[in-house]
Amino acid sequence: MNYDIKNIALATDGKKRIEWAEKDMPVLRLIRERFKKQKTLKGVKLSACLHVTSETANLMIALKEGGAEVYLCASNPLSTNDAVAASLVKDFKIPVYAIKGEDNKTYYKHLNAVLDKHPNQTMDDGADLVGMLHSDRVKQLTEVTGSTEETTTGVIRLKAMEKDNALKIPVLAVNDNLTKHLFDNRYGTGQSTIDAIMRTTNKLLAGSVFVVCGYGWCGRGIAMRARGMGALVIVCEVDPVKALEAVMDGYQVMALAEAIKNADFAVSATGNKHVIDEKHLKLAKDGVVLAQSGHFDVEINKDALKKLAKKITRVRPMVDEYSIGSKNIYLLGEGRLVNLAAADGHPASVMDTSFAGQALAAEYMWKNKKSLEHKVYALPQNIDSEIARLKLKSRGIKFDTLTKEQVSYLNSWHEGT
Ligand code: ADE
Repeated sequence: MNYDIKNIALATDGKKRIEWAEKDMPVLRLIRERFKKQKTLKGVKLSACLHVTSETANLMIALKEGGAEVYLCASNPLSTNDAVAASLVKDFKIPVYAIKGEDNKTYYKHLNAVLDKHPNQTMDDGADLVGMLHSDRVKQLTEVTGSTEETTTGVIRLKAMEKDNALKIPVLAVNDNLTKHLFDNRYGTGQSTIDAIMRTTNKLLAGSVFVVCGYGWCGRGIAMRARGMGALVIVCEVDPVKALEAVMDGYQVMALAEAIKNADFAVSATGNKHVIDEKHLKLAKDGVVLAQSGHFDVEINKDALKKLAKKITRVRPMVDEYSIGSKNIYLLGEGRLVNLAAADGHPASVMDTSFAGQALAAEYMWKNKKSLEHKVYALPQNIDSEIARLKLKSRGIKFDTLTKEQVSYLNSWHEGT
């Protein structure tokens, strides 16, 4: 079997990590058990580009049990868990191409390696495989029945391609599942971002000034958890509705150029470029800690930071000190998505519903391959409801159903005052 990982000897540790995560993924387990019986993915050759974590491992195992032939590469050079990669290869016979800390050349070599397998379906977190199929590998496009996309940034890219009539395969936007973004983006990013900041710096959040750029689902989660740790949270937004929402959620809202002057921490979760830009770096106070939780490492202007710095020192794992005149700025996780670069990513329990959505999307894509057009689709709402129902059931939580009388009341327009 061909693969490219750090060290196969790490497999024992990796298997324990995969099994640990599995305990908190009951919905994916049920899907895996059904897949094993029904083999609904027979005939699928799937190349996936995802963060290589213990949660992703459980998804890959489920897809393989469903009859798919799977290949995996990393969707970020810093997010791979090398032990998990080793176990996937050794214990589960799944070819993996991912090494934590790989350079850009190796990163793209690994993307090419999974596309060299000539998949008939792809799975992305950030749309890199789809991007490559539409640029360097257009001849392969006719072999691909479609792709599924995990993240907000990827969906934005794919919708832009659709608008330009550039999209040549169908795509299922798993991120648009309510059981994905309401939980993964909010509670997952919220917890794992704070976790990464605490692990890397061991700084006290209580009483600190914590700036969150972006009040989408990820920003909401980060702000909520920072406040929970006792920080004074300031939200920076460009969308007036979201800014107003942040105000009514009880946060201070101001322009970043003001907020940064007092920030002890500033985290960007917008999906946009140069949010923390040169002018903000100049205004920042001594000791500020910067991190980003967006998919691509573009939110903090790293070139400007490098240009301004007289000296760059790695002072702790994943903490770089940029000395600028008489002040220091600390950048976490090399400015890449901090929750995966400097921690373990979202907890398994939240990835359970996200990856249940991915598994069902892969199955839906295969079943409907003849009818899907070259568009970005949301999954049918009944899939979302089923994932939520199973998650509640796994936790022994019972909830109510409408009575016949209530159903008929909701469907009628005769009853009024
Ligand atoms: N994205 C965020 N957290 C993740 C995790 N634990 N596994 C895979 N993808 C992720």
